[in-house]
Amino acid sequence: MRVSPTCSRCALHTTRIQVVQPELPTTMKVVFLGRDPGSVEDEKGSPFHPAAPAGALLRRLIQEVGIPISWCGFDNVVRCHTPKNRGPNATEARACSVWTKVHWRDYPQLVVTLGRESYTALVAGGSGYKPTKLDLGEIHGKPQEFADRTVIPMYHPSAGLRNGTSRRLLVADLRGLASILGVVPEEPKYVRRWSTPVVVSNNTVSLDFETTMQGVPVGVGVAWVEDGHVYGVYGEPHKVL
Ligand code: URA
Repeated sequence: MRVSPTCSRCALHTTRIQVVQPELPTTMKVVFLGRDPGSVEDEKGSPFHPAAPAGALLRRLIQEVGIPISWCGFDNVVRCHTPKNRGPNATEARACSVWTKVHWRDYPQLVVTLGRESYTALVAGGSGYKPTKLDLGEIHGKPQEFADRTVIPMYHPSAGLRNGTSRRLLVADLRGLASILGVVPEEPKYVRRWSTPVVVSNNTVSLDFETTMQGVPVGVGVAWVEDGHVYGVYGEPHKVL
């Protein structure tokens, strides 16, 4: 079932390019529910599009914890882009909740809400849309039963783009989801990139390095290599997740 492409239940139909239809593959085991489509999604027509920053991060992190992307559906509590990314107001969230109710039966058992607005709009049924009243810090990553489904609130990937703490919490919660789905999560991997060696003496070279984890720089350092042995690696991060 698609959202009507000509839906005019709220004023967003006058500013959108198109209704961003839910992506609900038959192979999905979990659906990720966002707030409203961004401008790239408005142009492309699908939620959390891989060419958009939040969509790219979300899809990459999902796969990095070992969850196949074919197991994932994507949708938003409001299916039309809001001007200047202002976010939906209560009237718009309530208007679109009709479509959420229609799609609910297509959703799998697990529903992940991303960010406080989608959680509030979903769990309050679109009628109590008060995003500022909720602290995700208390509830993120904890499954709860709601309307015959298991809802897991998580941080929004846009918050993850802005700050490392939200991104790490999102990764930790996705790892929890992976284990609920029976995927054995891979250990997070450090990736170290080395500079060109600089000769210090006839048997010693020094090299700079940058360490990243899941594409995020987490440390820089320097190492000395003497007669093929690495000495004095400084700057290695101790623990990241
Ligand atoms: N942010 C959302 O909440 N949804 C999208 O589809 C894209 C960005």
